[in-house]
Amino acid sequence: MIEPCILLIFGATGNLVEHKLLPALYGLEAAGRLHPATRVVGVGRRPWNDQAWRERVGAALAERRVCEGAVLQRLLGRLHFVTGDLERAEDFARLAERLHALPEAPDNLLSYLAIAPEFHAGVAARLAAAGLASRAGGWSRLVVEKPFGLDLEGARLLERRLREAFPGDEIYRIDHYLGKSTVQNVLVFRFANLLLEPLWNRNYIDHVQISHAESQGIGARAGFYDGVGALRDMIQSHLLQLLTLVAMEPPASLDADALRDEKVKVLRSIRPIAREAVHAHALRAQYGAGRVGETTVAGYRDEPGVAAESTTETYAALKLYIDNWRWRNVPFFLRTGKRMASSESLIAIRFKHPPQQLFQHTAIERLRPNWLLLGIQPHECMRIELQVKRPGLELRTQTERLDASSCGLPPDHIDAYEALILDAVTGDRTHFLRADEVEWAWRVIDPVLKRWAVERDFIHTYAAGSWGPPEASRLFDRDDQDWRNALAG
Ligand code: BG6
Repeated sequence: MIEPCILLIFGATGNLVEHKLLPALYGLEAAGRLHPATRVVGVGRRPWNDQAWRERVGAALAERRVCEGAVLQRLLGRLHFVTGDLERAEDFARLAERLHALPEAPDNLLSYLAIAPEFHAGVAARLAAAGLASRAGGWSRLVVEKPFGLDLEGARLLERRLREAFPGDEIYRIDHYLGKSTVQNVLVFRFANLLLEPLWNRNYIDHVQISHAESQGIGARAGFYDGVGALRDMIQSHLLQLLTLVAMEPPASLDADALRDEKVKVLRSIRPIAREAVHAHALRAQYGAGRVGETTVAGYRDEPGVAAESTTETYAALKLYIDNWRWRNVPFFLRTGKRMASSESLIAIRFKHPPQQLFQHTAIERLRPNWLLLGIQPHECMRIELQVKRPGLELRTQTERLDASSCGLPPDHIDAYEALILDAVTGDRTHFLRADEVEWAWRVIDPVLKRWAVERDFIHTYAAGSWGPPEASRLFDRDDQDWRNALAG
């Protein structure tokens, strides 16, 4: 069980809170991980009281997951709601009074910014002005959701302003991918086994693909998404983080800084994309109408709240090179899209062909290469694809799979947000981003953003329910390379 605290959530009525934070709090409550004195205070503009918020939360949770009555009641009993405007100082003064007046309120305060990036700095400043950036007898921490700014300059400015409000080591920049157990497993898999390490480099690996596909569209998030797009929303954060874990050198220890030092080294070694090379390294597209499973769905520009002429990308793909001894000239392909054929996050590592093609039957037939597949979701899986002899008289091959896990959720599975809330309350920063990581990640994508910003009149399209635009294959340099779309392949 963790220390008691007040979890103060800005953006309490928003999408992230409903879809991620509240289910995580329910999970923590069900597992008995919340201290009995923990309070959750939501801040939003709606004119609600505690009871109104509790009713909404109860209904929203029951809709999303099977809830046990007693657990739900315990969680709802912890909830309070404060109506407030993110930009009004007097509302923060009132909020401070309300926190002070909470019966038996814990001294520790975890302020969680689940709000659009343009409000981050202002809310941090107003929290500080209201005396909430420190707590007598306890700690005060700030959790900031990505995107951290909207570009490199914006991220630097945001960082300066956050640090004016809160001490640097009380700022927790959250990337929920780092709380996913399969993502953490990448480290274990790489550094707890000797088997693959000798092969984990440019001599044996042909290329790496890191994909996150979603069959959902943008839902009710147009207000956020249309100004952000897929590159900022997924690649600057989640997918570049996955890349650092695949590519990093072994850290000196599992200490938060030792780990983040290695991740920063990877980001710093990524070859900058020259403005004139953006076309060869990056591709963006937007979904048109189509069918996802049995359902006919609208195109992006027809989604409620999206500008009719919007050229915001809902699909982005990048080819990156890491210029260090281990990875020089091994391409890393990163790709994400909404309204794709299925929802799947996968790291796929393709090995080179054996130097001799002993078992080929025709001049053009080549052996299938080995793949190592790390399924992030929905299947948490580690799979190696190998060639073995096909049954029969001839010496021909077929692909077999070695699965290093059951490809299912273990019974003690803990959700990413549950894990990261626990870490923030415990003060463990290992799976949160350091400011320099964020800055270097922006540097990677900034040339692409700048180029796309001046090419606003054209964007590729793909049919909803497909695997993205056919043009995305142009990022590959050779004909025998293509996107690996699913674990089953
Ligand atoms: C969020 C993005 O950070 O991650 C969303 O803003 C995306 O657009 C989501 O859908 C994906 O997270 P998960 O955990 O559902 O894969």
